[in-house]
Amino acid sequence: MMSGFVAIATTGELAPAGMKRVVVDGKRLLLCNADGRYYVVDEMCSHEEYSLYLGCIKEGRIKCSLHGSYFDLATGQPTCDPADEPIRTYPVKIEAGQVWVEV
Ligand code: FES
Repeated sequence: MMSGFVAIATTGELAPAGMKRVVVDGKRLLLCNADGRYYVVDEMCSHEEYSLYLGCIKEGRIKCSLHGSYFDLATGQPTCDPADEPIRTYPVKIEAGQVWVEV
């Protein structure tokens, strides 16, 4: 295995603002395409057990559709209430036409 990185999608697979749910090492993760930049974060919101896959991506942030918190995709930090805990983010790289994540 290449230093812990796992391929989770091809680079053309996600439309702008598209998301893909993946499970790596038993963790539920969300791959997000934010204006051509790829981010991987925990799938579940830090506020309650609710999937961020049901939300949407806007200007580098992901919105939880249950109570409306936004999280910065680069840092995982919430940018508005009610969530006050960050979601986890994971290193991503693009190589050989694939998106890779390190968990
Ligand atoms: S569950 Fe996401 S903001 Fe409440």
